[in-house]
This record gives sequence, structure tokens and C-alpha cells, in this order.
Amino acid sequence: MPEADSRSYSPGLEGVLAGETSVALVDGANGRLLYRGYPIGELVRHGTYAQVADLLWTGTWPDRAHLACAPLTAAVEAVLRELPPTAHPMDALRSAISTCGAENATAWPPTIEQARSLTSLAPSALAAFARLRRGDEPIAPDPDLDLAAGFLYQLNGEAPDPAAARALDAYFITAAEHSFNASTFTARVITSTRSDMASAVVGAIGALKGPLHGGAPTEVVNQLLEIGSAERAEQWARETIARGERIMGFGHRAYRAYDPRAAALREVAEGMAGTAEWLQLAVAVEDVVLRVLAELKPDRVIKTNVEYYAAAVLQGVGLAPDLFASTFAVARHAGWTAHTLEQASANRLIRPDVRYVGPEERPLPAVGARA
Ligand code: COA
Repeated sequence: MPEADSRSYSPGLEGVLAGETSVALVDGANGRLLYRGYPIGELVRHGTYAQVADLLWTGTWPDRAHLACAPLTAAVEAVLRELPPTAHPMDALRSAISTCGAENATAWPPTIEQARSLTSLAPSALAAFARLRRGDEPIAPDPDLDLAAGFLYQLNGEAPDPAAARALDAYFITAAEHSFNASTFTARVITSTRSDMASAVVGAIGALKGPLHGGAPTEVVNQLLEIGSAERAEQWARETIARGERIMGFGHRAYRAYDPRAAALREVAEGMAGTAEWLQLAVAVEDVVLRVLAELKPDRVIKTNVEYYAAAVLQGVGLAPDLFASTFAVARHAGWTAHTLEQASANRLIRPDVRYVGPEERPLPAVGARA
């Protein structure tokens, strides 16, 4: 009989230190998010996604940066054409990145060039799939446009409204990185085996696809459609909680204060044309929900999270709700790839221990019967 394992175990690895990072700080108690030391609010107000991606990859803030969408290779386009139009856009994005990895066998260790190339392919692949599934031909990227504007251009086939492009760029900044979340940790585990960057990103997309990780902003839209008017919000919130259901866009594992990304995106949404009516409803419902949650869940601090106002911005720039999660994945490429670079720079194979709770050693039934 082996000795009982007395080491502590934390389900979901909650509270376990699983690495060290200098890419981002999530300070949940104080509602702070810093990329390489810079507060998210300042990055959204004064930076671009291209600058933020460079910052995440290199650690240095560039005065200016340009990151255009990359053209699809023939193989990536062929794969996207083969997918059924009903495929989940996350699956289409994952297949595109996987194909790209198969075409350009990326060597160890991962490089910033690889990070740049995967990050700039992702929006082109998603836009191409969004067009193909509705029977339209993909559009070649405009090299003068940055990633968010270029994504809108390839989706819609016309020059994007500058305010919409700026709003989506701001969303991309808030979605770029969030430390050791499930998808980033997945990417780091894959990198720790000395596997390539494309494989790490493919695994990360798989992890983000799960409804506990990506996916909430689509639900926020459905929720507001269901509520319909500010007057109905209180009754709706009380009934939802009484049924033991979650209100989407509220609560977070790490934040006990207002999610700083929600604050930054609310500011962005307020500056957008055409969102006024939606935003008015969202703000009124938020006030009611926060009050009801504080009353009915007094033991837990539950505040607005990033997804609540992400929904307003993504809807405001005209994205179909079923593209929200995959658009989040496109933006997260900068963070995932920054973490693969960091993991590779001081690599140790990630291989945790596990407590065995199965049966003791025993003979196979047939062998036991013969004895
Ligand atoms: N609506 C209603 N109740 C909520 C809630 C929400 N959005 N978020 C947490 N709670 C309640 C739970 O019901 C639970 O109450 P109980 O102890 O009375 O059962 C308590 O708060 C703790 O919940 P738990 O799931 O342990 O907290 P967590 O911190 O691990 O949860 C989330 C984090 C994000 C999974 C959770 O807040 C949630 O499901 N939110 C809605 C989905 C969402 O917006 N996701 C996007 C996250 S960025």
C-alpha cells in the first residue's frame, strides 16, 4: 500500500501558482489590468492594437506600429471552402491556423515573426469564412489598413467607417491578453513540450471555444433582447436568479472590483454612433442587475465583466453575434503568442503531479481465477 498523498489539491488549479510572467498583471482585488506595466485604460485611450501587440511581444512600447491582415495561402483558402457553412466559426479559425502550421513547419524556438504572421492571418481567415458561408467570395486584404479595420474591410467588402474601425481596434486591445487564463495556459503547456507556435495557438483556440471561457457576449445580446425594456429588468433579474441561472456579463473568477476592461469598453461604446438606444438599455439594465445581485448574493462581490460592454461594441460595429467568440480569438492571438515566446525563453516542460484515487494494484480477473 503506497503512503497516502497528503499534498494539498486545488480543483481547477484555483489559487495555484503555475508559472511566472511579465506579460500582464491581473489585479482582481483592485480591478487593475496592466500589459507590461501599462494600465488597460491608457492603452485603449492612447494606443492601437498594432502597438499593443508589439508591446506584448517585445516588452517595449513602440511610438508607432503597423500590423496589416495577411493574404490567405491557397491551402488555407481551400480548407475554408471545404468546410460546411454550418461550421462553428471557431472551428474554421482553428482549421485555418492548423493548415498554416502544416504549410510553414515552424521551427523551435518560436519567434516574433511567427507571432506576427499567425496574428495577421487570423482576421483574414475568419472574414473569408464568414463570407464563404453566406455564398460570397473572400476579399484580398488591404495592406494599408491595420488589423481591426482590415478585418471589417474583408468582412464587408467596403472601406470601414473610421469610428467603427477605431472602436473595434479598442475592443481588440482589451481582448489581446489576460494572463494565465485557460487558453493561454493551454498554449504554454503545448509550447513547453517544444512543439511549434501554430500548434500552441490551435490548442488555445480549442480551449477558448468552451462556453465557460469565450462565448458570453453573444449571450449578453440575447439577454438584452429578452429583457427588451429597462422597466422589465428588475423582474427579469430576480426571476433569473431565483431559477439558479447566471446573468451573463456579470461576475469573474479573478475580479472582485469592476472589470477595468468593461469600464474602457463602456467609454468606447458611448463614443460610437448608432449604439445610443442599445447602450441606454444596457446601462439601465446594468444598474438594476448590480443592485439585485448585491441584494440576493450578499456574500459574493459580483460586478460587471468585460463581456457586457464588449457585446455593445461588437454589435455596434455590425458583427453577427455568432462571430463574437471567434473575433475574441482573433484579438487574443497577440497574448497567446507573447506567452509562447515567454514560455520558450525559460522553458521547463509543464507536467504537474496528480493524486491517484483509483483501485490498488490487483490481478486481472482471469489471472486471479487461475491462481
Ligand atoms: N449571475 C448570478 N449569480 C452569479 C453570477 C452571475 N453572473 N456570477 C456568480 N454568481 C453567484 C453564483 O451563483 C454563486 O452563488 P451561490 O454561492 O449562491 O451559488 C456565487 O456567485 C459564486 O459563483 P462561482 O461560479 O463560484 O464564481 P466564480 O467566480 O468562479 O464565477 C463566472 C465566475 C464568470 C464563471 C461567473 O461569474 C459567471 O458564470 N458569470 C456569467 C458568465 C459570464 O459573464 N462570463 C464571462 C466571464 S469574463
